[in-house]
This record gives sequence, C-alpha cells and structure tokens, in this order.
Amino acid sequence: MLRHFLNLSDAGPDAIAAMLADALDRKTARTGWPKGRVDADAPLAGHVLAMVFEKNSTRTRVSFDMAIRQLGGSAIVMDAGQMQLGRGETVADTARVLSGYVDAIMIRTDDHAKVEEMAHHATVPVINGLTDASHPCQIMADLLTIIEQGKALPGLKVAWLGDGNNVLASIMEAAGLMQFDVVAACPQGFMPADGDVALGRGRARVVATPGEAVAGADVVVTDTWISMGQAQAETKLAAMMPYQVDAALMAQAKPDAKFLHCLPAHRGEEVTADVIDGAQSLIWQEAENRLHAQKAILRWCFGQIG
Ligand code: CP
Ligand code: NVA
Repeated sequence: MLRHFLNLSDAGPDAIAAMLADALDRKTARTGWPKGRVDADAPLAGHVLAMVFEKNSTRTRVSFDMAIRQLGGSAIVMDAGQMQLGRGETVADTARVLSGYVDAIMIRTDDHAKVEEMAHHATVPVINGLTDASHPCQIMADLLTIIEQGKALPGLKVAWLGDGNNVLASIMEAAGLMQFDVVAACPQGFMPADGDVALGRGRARVVATPGEAVAGADVVVTDTWISMGQAQAETKLAAMMPYQVDAALMAQAKPDAKFLHCLPAHRGEEVTADVIDGAQSLIWQEAENRLHAQKAILRWCFGQIG
C-alpha cells in the first residue's frame, strides 16, 4: 500500500507520535556532526526524492534536500516554471513520468487538488510541501519543537492569531489527532473555513478576541497575514492589526508560553520584533526541526516507521 503524506490524517496519531519520537532520536544521535554526513544506518540509501515547486521556498526546499541526504539518498529540485508542467503538461502525466525516475515526490503548489491528483497518478509516495489548504510538514516540525520543551501534546492550549490560513488548518487537524486544544482569534472575513475547524474534532475553536485566544495558552502561533498567491491588500492588513502578537499579548499567555512562527516573518506586522526575537520565541529551533521532522516523514512514506 503506497503511503502518501498529503495531510496529517494520512498518517494518524500513532504514526505521528512514532515519527516525532524517531525525529528526536535521530536529531540527538547526530548532535555535533557535519550537516552533510549520512546517518549511521543510511536508511534511505539509493533513494531519490524529486521536489516540484510552484511557489517560493527556503526552508522546505533546503530541509527536504538535507533530509534525504542525511538518510543516505539524494534529491532533484525543480521549479515548475522550468518544467513542462509550467507550460501545460498535466499533473497526471508529470506524476506518471516522475514515478519512473524517482522514489518519492514532494510538491508545493496552490490548489490542493493538484497534490491529490499527483498522488492519484503517481506510483511512488507523494508529499504535500504546502498547498493553499494545508502545510502538514510544517506542523510536524512545530509538534517536534513543542515536545522538545518537555511538554506532552494532550491537553496543551495552542493560541493562533491572525489569518485563518493553510498553516492554521493543519494545526487544527493536528489538534484533533493529538488531543490538544487550538483556539484561534481571526478577524471577520479571514476566519478558518468550517471544514478546517471540523478537522479539530471538537478541539479547535474560533474566539472573538486575541485576549481570549491567548489566555492561559502554552504556545502562541502566528503566520504571515498575506500568504503566497494572495494579493497584498491594505484592507486585510488593517483588519489584522489588532491580532498582532506583541509583548502585551504574550503576557496574557502562561508565563512559560512559547512563540512559534513557520517563517518567513514580517516583523511589525503579524508579530513585533521583541516577541519573535525574544526569549519566548523558538523560531530557529522550529525551522531546524523541519529537517528532523521531514526525515521521519520520508521514513514513514517508505514504511520504515508506523
Ligand atoms: N515555513 C516554510 O514552509 O518555509 P518556506 O516557504 O521557506 O519553505
Ligand atoms: N501561510 C504561508 C506559509 C508560508 C510557509 C503561505 O502559504 O504563504
């Protein structure tokens, strides 16, 4: 049975827990090593990952490339604009062709239906590297960053501020699977879709004010107010301003609350510099954890975990 990682529920709670444990173990085992050295067991030796980008990326691109290298494999990174995909070759045909060359495909695109189409026609595992609907790889790194703090996921309160976007959708899905609560404060017109809240299986809700969202929160999360592919709208920025994460808002969360942001960040918009660059922020650890989490996702796709 082919394993695609299009959303967190493709793996489910037990496999997610197993992937997080594996990621922690592997991260610890290679402490202090040069980044390009292959893990001692080289579990994906000989495997090639193709990456297709229809949107920009720094973290996803480099962390997946390094992830497959550390597992003993290698990567081919392609911008869709330089592929025939960018001039009309279908996703289905691209999926069939790439399946003959490589062992797994990661795709970052706009319409989530495209990753589903890729998975439908590929005969190798397909990984969602972000769509307009979700960003499951990011949330695996976020969960890893939280448990590295010694916090168990069940029962935690995660606060989300700002846009009801793709990253929030995956956090809500994670909440339902891993039994933590996510409370989002988003302005009118930029709330998460009802279907995204439903992914939280009763653990996700939207509240009226930023204060309600952060009250007693263990983790405070935000993201850019303008996602890739969205128009830069002054009206949206104005609506978002009351949802900015600043020191006064952080002070309403638990005293030991942590701040997460998937990056890239816009200091002075969704978060103030003192918060994102301050003592409660875990953003650099979170960004590094993309590498460690993705190694586990790759191993899960190949049936080595869960
Ligand atoms: N967080 C994240 O996905 O970053 P990139 O867009 O740089 O890949
Ligand atoms: N919500 C952002 C996440 C970027 C990693 C976007 O889709 O652009």
